[in-house]
Amino acid sequence: MLSHVNNKRVLSCLLVRAATFDCTAISLSPAPKQKPVDCLQSAVIVANNHHTEVRSYMAEVRLESVSKVYPGNVRAVDNVNLTVKDKEFLVLVGPSGCGKSTTLRMVAGLEEISEGNIYIGDRLVNDVPPKDRDIAMVFQNYALYPHMTVEENLEFGLKLRKIPKEERKKRVMEAAAILDIAHLLDRKPKALSGGQRQRVAVGRAIVRHPKVFLFDEPLSNLDAKLRVQMRTEISKLHSRLQATMIYVTHDQVEAMTMGDRIVVMKDGLVQQIDDPISLYDHPQNKFVAGFIGSPPMNFMEGQIQQEGGLYFSEGTFRLRIPERYHEPLRPFVNKTVIFGIRPEDIYDPSYGTELPNKQEITARVEVIEPMGSEIYLYMTTGKNPFIARVEPHVRAEIDQQKQLIFNMDKAHFFDASDERNLLFEIERDAQAAGSAI
Ligand SMILES: Nc1ncnc2c1ncn2[C@@H]1O[C@H](COP(=O)(O)OP(=O)(O)O)[C@@H](O)[C@H]1O
Ligand SMILES: [Mg+2]
Repeated sequence: MLSHVNNKRVLSCLLVRAATFDCTAISLSPAPKQKPVDCLQSAVIVANNHHTEVRSYMAEVRLESVSKVYPGNVRAVDNVNLTVKDKEFLVLVGPSGCGKSTTLRMVAGLEEISEGNIYIGDRLVNDVPPKDRDIAMVFQNYALYPHMTVEENLEFGLKLRKIPKEERKKRVMEAAAILDIAHLLDRKPKALSGGQRQRVAVGRAIVRHPKVFLFDEPLSNLDAKLRVQMRTEISKLHSRLQATMIYVTHDQVEAMTMGDRIVVMKDGLVQQIDDPISLYDHPQNKFVAGFIGSPPMNFMEGQIQQEGGLYFSEGTFRLRIPERYHEPLRPFVNKTVIFGIRPEDIYDPSYGTELPNKQEITARVEVIEPMGSEIYLYMTTGKNPFIARVEPHVRAEIDQQKQLIFNMDKAHFFDASDERNLLFEIERDAQAAGSAI
């Protein structure tokens, strides 16, 4: 990211900075041994009008039973309990309207809290105004001031906070170097690409040296390719700044690729908080199972039947259920449940031959989507549609009655009424015991 830093001003500024913060070496290579911002980790210099104080850099964010009720009794956020660890990258994800922005805005202080408490570090911030919370927020609509240069845009918030000029310059150069925009400092926003503008918006947050960064869908306005690129850059920025970051998105791919942990929300309620892989492998309920993963998990309603072993009967086919799932499913014999299986856990019979708990079914091919590295087969059993994600060389024809294998070791079962994952506890126990599922 520092490849374009050849600007003398930046270099001299960083050296001045190095002296100020007693950093011994500053390297401008792409993977510097000692990163310029390392010196910010142990202490943050917060210029506060006329005096400068050094604060310890612990930036845990804690939400205790936090709710937001809008007029008309709209419960936008409902009893959220959440601890964002110091230096963690936490993603809030969920469909539009689920309360992500409201949650973030309450942390920022832009929205009043109806119930509960929010702590930043060990300070209760319920009644602390946004400017005193040591947070910086980056929005989807990164409104830069059009009549100001990039440098002025970066500096503006610091000016408002009456940070001395020398310190302002120093911070602007440091952010410009980190974001690789040092060569753009004299340009106006209209002379920048979307990605460059977004970097300036992030830069405005960096110069603040906040305890916590808050991002609200910051990449939604960028085209798909740029979004992927900026995603990586924000992840890099996190490992580099080692700051606490809370990142809101409706895009589960962004959540999976960026988050240390992910909070899945729906209708103002937290559905699950977990690391990306646990969320994918062990969703707590059908909503999480269907929201995380693309193409999404397939769901089919059917009955549990007992005939010697246990079976799931969809109506057009029947699947033998592995023995270790029997205990939690036994109370559901002759009852309706929802069976779930991810597209990649369905195989063409010529593959997956060694799977110990495979079950073969026949279904009709409706659509074939060759993706290059794999093929998506859109199938129907006659009762239920489902998607299989198979090897690129698998042969299939439209309307063909095709045999496929379900890997029952990856099967999920959900309660038909409350939609909880019926296997969650035993899956989790097995994972904890290190057993291969
Ligand atoms: N100022 C407001 N007044 C009333 N309802 C609001 C207001 N802001 C948001 N809401 C409602 O609160 C819910 C959550 O909104 P929001 O947090 O913006 O969702 P998200 O960011 O997840 O898309 C939505 O139903 C939305 O309509
Ligand atoms: Mg939002």
